[in-house]
Amino acid sequence: DIKGFAFDLDGVIADSARLHAKAWHQTADEVHSEWTPELAEALKGVSRMDSLEMILKAGGHENDYTEDEKVALATEKNTKYLKLVESLTPDDVLPGMKAFLDELKASGYKMSVASASKNAPAILKQLKITDYFEGVVDPAKLHAGKPDPEIFSLAAGVMDLAPEVVAGLEDSGAGIKSINAAGELSIGIGNQLMEADVRFADTSEVSLKNIKAKLG
Ligand code: BG6
Ligand code: MG
Repeated sequence: DIKGFAFDLDGVIADSARLHAKAWHQTADEVHSEWTPELAEALKGVSRMDSLEMILKAGGHENDYTEDEKVALATEKNTKYLKLVESLTPDDVLPGMKAFLDELKASGYKMSVASASKNAPAILKQLKITDYFEGVVDPAKLHAGKPDPEIFSLAAGVMDLAPEVVAGLEDSGAGIKSINAAGELSIGIGNQLMEADVRFADTSEVSLKNIKAKLG
């Protein structure tokens, strides 16, 4: 039986995936890489520097910039992203997710955050939901990001739970792979996530009852 839930943040709890995409789109334009829906999807769950590499590669520009220039481009993106994030309020918790967090809390489930974002603690604070979670995995300490299982394994550890009793929620393919490799139950937000154990079209459908119904 599931005893805890490990949450991705951007695109699962916070309506911030579109803000990452907006800021990266500007970077892509700046480096003359084409911004496509496929690239946008592939960037979900990917760390800041790896995202930049993928954008440069998409245009064949990965060797056109020095390491310092790459760091500058990534920093510039983060500054733009943080400007966009300033406008987030508790109303930007994605549909149904505040109710789901309340349901889990009332039912005694543990919760933790497994986000690749270094900005996760700031966003939780802005959405006023920090206190729901036992803790947030620090992505700066990871040896490998999603799809590696490390982040979701650590998220189970934060809750003091074995992976077998943890469910992970993700909106990215890389994240679902990470959850599966960690040996946890994977819940995908987005019908395209074919590797997820359970799938929902969007966050508004996520509830304990609906998860149980899909598990059969
Ligand atoms: C993930 C997002 O949660 O965090 C990615 O899905 C983002 O789009 C990554 O690149 C890293 O975030 P940050 O805030 O540390 O640049
Ligand atoms: Mg996400």
